[in-house]
Amino acid sequence: MSVAKIFANASAIVTCAGPQRGRRGMEMSDAGVLKNAGVAIESGRIAAVGDVKDLRPRFAGATEIDCRGGVLTPGLVDSHTHAVFGKSRAEEQELRASGVGYMEIAKRGGGIHSSVRDLRALSEADLIKLALPRLRRLLSYGATTVEIKSGYGLDAESELKTLAVIGRLSKLLPIRIVATWLGGHEIPLEQRDRPGGRAECIAKLKADTAAVAKQGIARFADVFCEPGVFSIEESREILAAAKEAGLAIKLHADELEPSGGAELAVELGAASADHLAAISAEGIRALAGSNTVATLLPGTMLFLGKNKNAPAREMIDAGAAIALATDYNPGTSPTPNLPLMMTLGISVLHMTAAEAMIAVTANGAAALNLATETGQIAPGFSADLSLFDIADWRELAYWYGDRRCVGSWCRGEPCHPMEAGLS
Ligand code: NIG
Ligand code: FE
Repeated sequence: MSVAKIFANASAIVTCAGPQRGRRGMEMSDAGVLKNAGVAIESGRIAAVGDVKDLRPRFAGATEIDCRGGVLTPGLVDSHTHAVFGKSRAEEQELRASGVGYMEIAKRGGGIHSSVRDLRALSEADLIKLALPRLRRLLSYGATTVEIKSGYGLDAESELKTLAVIGRLSKLLPIRIVATWLGGHEIPLEQRDRPGGRAECIAKLKADTAAVAKQGIARFADVFCEPGVFSIEESREILAAAKEAGLAIKLHADELEPSGGAELAVELGAASADHLAAISAEGIRALAGSNTVATLLPGTMLFLGKNKNAPAREMIDAGAAIALATDYNPGTSPTPNLPLMMTLGISVLHMTAAEAMIAVTANGAAALNLATETGQIAPGFSADLSLFDIADWRELAYWYGDRRCVGSWCRGEPCHPMEAGLS
């Protein structure tokens, strides 16, 4: 039996406790902040939350962890990343600044295509070597659950290679990793530039869903649904096949232009619709009346230099559930910093601090169908905790770009090396 631990002396515990599903609208306005409380964990689960004086006799012999006046939160959930890739695409940043758009770069065979050429030439071992330090950096900001998509392989073999890498990473790192198959990230150049290639691509993707589901190497299927990439009809075909095969659904939707992506996500019962900077009024209505989480990625719009942003305030006021994520990828959002997305959520998307906190915990978990497992500090939940060196919990989004995480635990096990000094 594992020895219990008691987390004591936190200046605040942000529990995010509440319903075990996506928090919608007003439900996001309470982050469940407790003062003068501690947390007991045992066998990888949260056992109790309450006054440390009461916890001590209940968990006799427990190791005590001194939080030194810091703030304890649920382990953060980064519910949208593309963290397995080859080299950086730093040259595209300047190109965009000179006026060449993201879609134009893709048309010229760069963008995602450039990362595809790169990843296809790398071995599983190469990709693991590249991904490990990147993920360690990402979790050093406080994430204990991370979703990772494939999507830089595009052919069946390279997509399966990427998913195998994601599977290996989840054994090498002490965090929870959720794999998503994004075979429909782009039309590969070998099919795009050939008559009949497009139809062939869709047919192959539909067939691949069965292999992915059968091997149990991804929990979700995702498609980049955007004018110029996959249309609504094509996305529906691919994702309907994925659903039929037993995969849960996500969708890159309405990122740059409105095309009905949010509505399609709701129609398919997707766990999340992601991006949504160009969502329509109908899209907002559809999401607000559904359990599909709207995952917003404000770092992407910042890095692409767009003035347009997802209408988070309007969506929350309409009753939608919002998550925030990094979209960590080499093209549009090369940041591992999830608290920075909270900063953008508040300062750019007009969310409250509590809403931003729920968006990277309980709602991030809901976007991964994990709302009963993580994202809350409440008895029975996985012992996923992050400790931040801040005096007021709202400072997590305030000291922007700063790394304040001084320890994190996933399933009760330490997973952030700086924790070493914390006993
Ligand atoms: O979520 N929008 C599509 N996919 C990624 C970007 C991929 C890339 O440019 O490498 C995104 O932003
Ligand atoms: Fe993405």
